[in-house]
Amino acid sequence: MSVHTPLLSLQGINKTYVMGDVLFPVLHDITLSVEAGEFVSILGPSGSGKSTLMNIIGCLDVADSGIYTIGRRAVVGLGEKDMARIRNRDIGFVFQNFQLLPRVSAIENVMLPLLYAKAPRAERMARAMAELERVGLADKAHNLPRQLSGGQQQRVAIARALVTRPRILLADEPTGALDRATGAQIMDIFRSLHEEGITIIMITHDHKVASAASRIVHILDGHLYSAEEYAALEQE
Ligand SMILES: Nc1ncnc2c1ncn2[C@@H]1O[C@H](COP(=O)(O)OP(=O)(O)OP(=O)(O)O)[C@@H](O)[C@H]1O
Ligand SMILES: [Mg+2]
Repeated sequence: MSVHTPLLSLQGINKTYVMGDVLFPVLHDITLSVEAGEFVSILGPSGSGKSTLMNIIGCLDVADSGIYTIGRRAVVGLGEKDMARIRNRDIGFVFQNFQLLPRVSAIENVMLPLLYAKAPRAERMARAMAELERVGLADKAHNLPRQLSGGQQQRVAIARALVTRPRILLADEPTGALDRATGAQIMDIFRSLHEEGITIIMITHDHKVASAASRIVHILDGHLYSAEEYAALEQE
C-alpha cells in the first residue's frame, strides 16, 4: 500500500526574526501542500512575509518550527551542506532583478548551474541552448545581459533556473521589474512551462500576475489562506 506524498509539504511553519531583544514574528502556522505539476501563486501585500516564506521553501533559510518536506525528505533540521544540495538539485530560482552575471553571455549564464553537474562543455552548451530555445531566445545566446531587454534577461534567468531540471521552479516577483506587457509575456512562458508539467511556485503582490497560476493562496500578516478562506474573510 502506498500513501500519497505531495511534492512539497509545509506544516505548522513558524518564523520569527530576532533583532537584539526584539522578537519579530513573521510567519504563523503556515500549512501548504503542493502537488507535482501544480502552478501555485502566493499573493500578498508588501511586508506580509512572502519572501520569508519563499526563502524557507527554497532552503535559503530555516523555519523555527514546523515540518517541511520535499518528497519524502524532511528539510527542517538539515545542515547547510544538505540544504545547498537541495537548492542546487531540486530548486530553480527566478528573482525580480534577474541576477544574471553581467560579464558573460546569455548561454554562459544558463550553463553555469551545470558546472556542478560536471558534464562535458559540449553537453552543457547543448542543454543550455535547448533551454534558451524553450524560452524563445536561441537567437540571443551570445548577447551579454546588458544587450538584452528586461524581459529577455528574465527569460535567460528562467532558462538558467530550468537547465538542471529541478523539481520546483520558485519565482519571487518575477515580473516586478518589468512593464505590464513584458510581465504578461513572462506569465505566458510560465503558463506554457506549467503545461509541460513543470511545478511552479510564484510569489507576487499583483493580483493579475497571480491569476496566471492554477491555484492562488493568500498571505496576510504571515497567515496563509486558501482562496475560499480569503473570500470568506473579505465577506466579514
Ligand atoms: N532579516 C530580517 N530581520 C528582521 N526582520 C525582517 C527580516 N527580513 C524581513 N523582515 C521583516 O519581516 C516582514 C516580512 O518581510 P518579507 O520580506 O517576507 O515581506 P514580503 O511580503 O516579501 O514584502 P515585499 O512585497 O515588500 O517584498 C517585514 O515586516 C520585514 O520588515
Ligand atoms: Mg519580498
